[in-house]
Amino acid sequence: MSHKVPARGRFRAEAAPAKYSDAPGRAAGQTDAVTDAVGSRPQYDSHAEEFLERAREGFYNAHYDRPACLGLLGEVAGRRILDAACGPGLYAEELCARGAEIVGLDHSPRMIELARQRVPHGEFRIHDLARPLDWLPDASVELILFALALEYIDDRVAMLREFRRVLRPDGALVLSRPHPTGDWIRHGGNYFDVRVIEETWSSGWTMRYWLAPLERTCAELHEAGFLIERLIEPRPTGPAAAIDAERYDRLHREPTGFLAIRAIPDPRRAPAGASVPPAVGLQ
Ligand SMILES: C[S@@+](CC[C@H](N)C(=O)[O-])C[C@H]1O[C@@H](n2cnc3c(N)ncnc32)[C@H](O)[C@@H]1O
Repeated sequence: MSHKVPARGRFRAEAAPAKYSDAPGRAAGQTDAVTDAVGSRPQYDSHAEEFLERAREGFYNAHYDRPACLGLLGEVAGRRILDAACGPGLYAEELCARGAEIVGLDHSPRMIELARQRVPHGEFRIHDLARPLDWLPDASVELILFALALEYIDDRVAMLREFRRVLRPDGALVLSRPHPTGDWIRHGGNYFDVRVIEETWSSGWTMRYWLAPLERTCAELHEAGFLIERLIEPRPTGPAAAIDAERYDRLHREPTGFLAIRAIPDPRRAPAGASVPPAVGLQ
């Protein structure tokens, strides 16, 4: 995401999808009925160039989110990576430079155009993550990167199950999302509510996106058959201080930016749709 500074002050991350109503008595982590949605309109399409401008060298993307996710991806040379919600290809460019083979997708046609221009060796496709990845075979990618887009997806478990299916058993998923504590401080209300909000950022972009507590993201990964290997609360890297020293200091003190997770396929559970049934006694 480009940095999102909401009109009322702090930076903010992207948009989020619909809202689940949490039925009383349900176990934490269960997914309840969707009562609202972000929907499938590619919200970034009309802001694609501006996003690219802001994200290329900007504080939040270049010196905060990208170093965190690239670190979690680890060695990528020779690996086939799915860059899901790839935006204008800034990650793809870096990953290709490090020797990876990139398959990128985004539902914004303009983002895909920019990614193709930026990374001619990549393979890019317009795809809405609300739909199955039926053009990718089972176990066909070694790593999946899903940076700063979870909050726009309405049925996150279905999407994560597709990630699980196309990921090799020895692969990993790296995702980043806005830090839920920061979301809660900014938006107030009940931290545990899973809900869609709409807001206008300082950029003038009006975006819809999901707010969800940390346990929801963990539960959704679990439901989709992933094990969390690492969860980090990154701090901006050194060059960010030269861009905005006050914000740099604040994000070294406050959990109001992003977090990033590396998750691996749970070997005890077969991916949805695979022929091997899950082990007895395990979800
Ligand atoms: C904040 S940008 C992040 C782009 C890129 N991952 C990065 O970090 O540079 C969010 C991206 O998610 C994409 N996106 C949002 N909802 C999507 C969906 N349902 N399917 C595919 N892409 C989606 C947007 O079009 C946008 O390019």
